[in-house]
Amino acid sequence: MDFVGSHILSVDQFDRGDVELVFRVADRMEPFAARQKITRVLEGAILSNMFFEPSTRTRVSFGSAFNLLGGEVRETTDIKVSAISKGESLYDSARVLSGYSDVIAMRHPEAGSVAEFARASRVPVINGGDGPNEHPSQALLDLYTIRKEMAARGATIDGLRIALVGDLKFGRAVHSLCKLLGRFNGIHFNLVSPPELTAPDDIVDALKSARHSVNELFRLEDGIRDVDILYVTRTQEERFPSQEEADRYRGLFHVNQHIYTEFCEPNTVIMHPLPRDSRTIANELDHDLDQNPNLAIFRQTDNGVLVRMALFAMVLDVVDQVERSARDVNWYTAKRDPGRT
Ligand code: NCD
Repeated sequence: MDFVGSHILSVDQFDRGDVELVFRVADRMEPFAARQKITRVLEGAILSNMFFEPSTRTRVSFGSAFNLLGGEVRETTDIKVSAISKGESLYDSARVLSGYSDVIAMRHPEAGSVAEFARASRVPVINGGDGPNEHPSQALLDLYTIRKEMAARGATIDGLRIALVGDLKFGRAVHSLCKLLGRFNGIHFNLVSPPELTAPDDIVDALKSARHSVNELFRLEDGIRDVDILYVTRTQEERFPSQEEADRYRGLFHVNQHIYTEFCEPNTVIMHPLPRDSRTIANELDHDLDQNPNLAIFRQTDNGVLVRMALFAMVLDVVDQVERSARDVNWYTAKRDPGRT
């Protein structure tokens, strides 16, 4: 795909070569994210962060990524304080906002809303999550993390064995990650969910017709043996018609050190898009795994900055200027040990 000036709305836009290109650019962002170098290539540029659903890491890491490239960030984080609460259409909001910005990152509770907004926008729009539909930048950072973790074990993405656990019906991070993994060869998917929360048929069918192996399972212990990656997710409570219904699925799958030791291969990488629901009633990924070196959840969040920097640099066409304008930082920088979780 041609990245320059493009919206990033769905992982369907990316072929394997595009994904690998994003990863190569993300690798080059490391010295900036690690505070060894500074670049100001986006000096004067404005990112509008429009987040109409709760978000911490997606919103802040989009903002940090833009700041690290020298740009400025404007935040609109509540639908109630935006004119959308006065009945303004996405069309009008997009026409207005795009006049104030060079790029827009947007999250919205409805599937398809970010694409609708993008159609009226005069600047590139990046989907930060549209309802239960997609979360393309999360899938890219997840896959970038998988690539690094596998490389450290002398393996590649091709032939990967992955278990995706939890609410696979409403989990947009899972939807985008499955589709993106589908671009690679011979992936073994164990999709572990309650029977009512299985992954959407179109996603499963597409993986099967691309000759990946897909097992749909309902018991945790059946799905987490013999995998390289254990990707745990939260029940997406906010997508259920009622709290009562959401309550039924909370706490069904509980990954902790004991379960890990008993059922997983010793080197299995543990991932989660976060936030993990640490309330006792849910607790899908226990804090007793925090010292486990295979827990990659904070490596994922760090990688999010690199991938989002890459997307901005590619969409705004400054990739080749980033290193040319680099200089050393001149303040105290804390040691960032990427090996530690
Ligand atoms: C995910 C999301 O919002 O879809 N979070 C994130 O962006 N890292 C997953 C979730 O909320 O459970």
